[in-house]
Amino acid sequence: VCVCVCVCVCPQVPELQKTTVRIQQPERVMGVISAIKEQGSSKLQVISDFDMTLSRFGCNGRRCPTSHNILDNSRVISEDGKKKLKDLLQHYYPIEIDPNRSLEEKRPLMVEWWTRAHELLTQQKIQKGDIAQIVRESDVMLRDGFNELFDQLHKYNVPMFIFSAGVGDVLEEIIRQANVFYPNVNVVSNYMDFDDSGVLKCFKSPLIHTYNKNNSVLQGTAYFQQLSTRTSIILLGDSMGDLTMADGVPSVENILKIGFLNDKVEERRGKYLDAYDIVLESDETLDVVNGILRYIL
Ligand code: TMP
Ligand code: MG
Repeated sequence: VCVCVCVCVCPQVPELQKTTVRIQQPERVMGVISAIKEQGSSKLQVISDFDMTLSRFGCNGRRCPTSHNILDNSRVISEDGKKKLKDLLQHYYPIEIDPNRSLEEKRPLMVEWWTRAHELLTQQKIQKGDIAQIVRESDVMLRDGFNELFDQLHKYNVPMFIFSAGVGDVLEEIIRQANVFYPNVNVVSNYMDFDDSGVLKCFKSPLIHTYNKNNSVLQGTAYFQQLSTRTSIILLGDSMGDLTMADGVPSVENILKIGFLNDKVEERRGKYLDAYDIVLESDETLDVVNGILRYIL
């Protein structure tokens, strides 16, 4: 039903006809898109998650790595370290995406996962100088259409705020190697702290995990304050935890939340449709985002 309504209400964004698109309230979506267009590019900012939102979830039936996985799978991690990191993933990832557990229940468990993973990584004596090569040798892929997304936002001076619970050093290297790390792109994430000889000694605080992506970790980040005049927001995420990424913006006038539903699609559809304005099911592209931006900008 929703697809037909969208085509009628917004023929200017033909990408909304894709079979991967699901929308619970088409009129609201069209209203927000029109309002953002009316406000213009000087009022717009994009706030995006990184792993499994800007990067691909899968390719040819295989999973693509998160920024953490890129390190976990790399040659600088011992076999024992790899096994322990994999055990953590197998234990905590199902909890992370479980639609039947509350955020309150998940939060301390995510702190546990991140803390343990960061401890294991720190034991591996990872060198700062190795990160670029590790990324080059990884299977990471950005979603199809990433070039157009970054190019358009750069061209129209729209700030792109990447808010990630992944590893900042790794994800920055991914977008650098993809040649899209433009000056309008800013990242808040978990950054590595290296000693004087360039060896990883710990991760900098505050620790960002899937379910504390909100004000609590943005306080004191100067960049975020500068964005307060950008009252139109396009938010991109793949987790229920990504929905609070814009909570620190003081005067949000129009917000369009676009959610990638990558995994456990059937079980999670209901919650995603209630929470995200547009849900993209098993869609490895940025087509819909680019289509909306093409219309707005
Ligand atoms: P995101 O907020 O940028 O999407 O990054 C968080 C993702 O990283 C989340 O989906 C879980 C994943 N993750 C790993 O794959 N391995 C790890 O060791 C940890 C701590 C997180
Ligand atoms: Mg993510």
